Amino acid sequence: MFTINENYLKLPGSYLFSDIAKKIAAYQKENPEKEIIRLGIGDVTQPLAPAIIEALHGAVEEMAHAETFHGYAPDKGYVFLREAIAKNDYQDRSCDIDPEEIFVSDGAKCDSGNIQEILGLDNKIAVCDPVYPVYVDTNVMAGRTGNYNKTTQNFDGMIYMPCTAENNFAPEFPKETPDVIYLCFPNNPTGSTISKEQLQGWVDYANKNGSLIIYDAAYEAYITEEDVPHSIYECEGAKTCAIELRSFSKNAGFTGVRLGFAVVPKDLKSGGVSLNDLWARRHGTKYNGAPYIVQKAGAAVYTEAGKAQVKEQVAYYMRNAHTIYNGLKDAGYTVSGGVNAPYVWLKTPGNQTSWEFFDTLLHEVNVVGTPGSGFGACGEGYFRLSAFGTYENTIEAIKRITKM
Ligand SMILES: Cc1ncc(COP(=O)(O)O)c(C=O)c1O
Repeated sequence: MFTINENYLKLPGSYLFSDIAKKIAAYQKENPEKEIIRLGIGDVTQPLAPAIIEALHGAVEEMAHAETFHGYAPDKGYVFLREAIAKNDYQDRSCDIDPEEIFVSDGAKCDSGNIQEILGLDNKIAVCDPVYPVYVDTNVMAGRTGNYNKTTQNFDGMIYMPCTAENNFAPEFPKETPDVIYLCFPNNPTGSTISKEQLQGWVDYANKNGSLIIYDAAYEAYITEEDVPHSIYECEGAKTCAIELRSFSKNAGFTGVRLGFAVVPKDLKSGGVSLNDLWARRHGTKYNGAPYIVQKAGAAVYTEAGKAQVKEQVAYYMRNAHTIYNGLKDAGYTVSGGVNAPYVWLKTPGNQTSWEFFDTLLHEVNVVGTPGSGFGACGEGYFRLSAFGTYENTIEAIKRITKM
């Protein structure tokens, strides 16, 4: 008789965004005439930039002819893309990353979920609280935690690093030393960042303790301030302690196209075993590569035209972020984020819980956001608004909220 992976049974209920979708569907069914503005899920709304569309068309045409047709992609991704990534995202920022250290994938969600497979089951995991839920759930599925504790709203055996207003939503070194530390900056959901000096502190801490940092830089393109690092490899010593994950979803609108990459430096080792080799083995066995067409589209992001166009798109979303941030702040809300990130994190007014405020917004002004408690216990009393809507909807949503 077959059995199941019982670790899955530790996961409480459904995924946050399914709960939100159900609430919206129920409300819309009762009120079909209401126009709901969705600033909840972090999905982009602007079409792909012209340089990317042109590259897609070109690659589709190549696939139509025997001489230019492409079948399976190389395991790590096409060299043309890995070279463009290494140059533009790393070498131009004085980060010594080689194309051989880059693994192209179909996005950072898969990478952030899959990367734990090459790590031992006895690793002690640390995450920020609030947190992008994938880091937690995939380690629960693998069996690295105990049960879910309803009182603390935490998994036993997992180290949670509170990110609160008191520490500017940046984690402090935990009491217990973790083996693996997930960091995400600019942060989802709080929109916070850390300085280069703070990140260097984490790199030094990891190297000293033999810990691994999994650094999710999916929102790197939204950084506007000077002192905020774009990559963990800007820090000295990061190549011996950190894996970096990146995505084309938020900087270039690839949420529906799917493209990302992981950087696994060759210097990163555990007991003499190279993590680059392990990830190459895992990638080669379980993954057959992002489509050629999509990788060509990804390479277009690094052309002069592509760079200018995606920069404009990021600026469009950041104008939304400023609209949300300033609109709410002027109306007396306590807000943070929104400066180096497309998310604004706000304190729910009048001691409402995150879900109470969600219901208030949905029912009273037909605006959808994300309850902070869905990202962890420390998110209770907070709410996330996304800047990925259209400008018109963003303005209308803030007008509605501030009139409440
Ligand atoms: C922190 C973080 N990492 C990764 C992802 C997923 O990125 P991708 O679309 O590349 O899978 C998201 C998406 O919202 C995210 O917020």
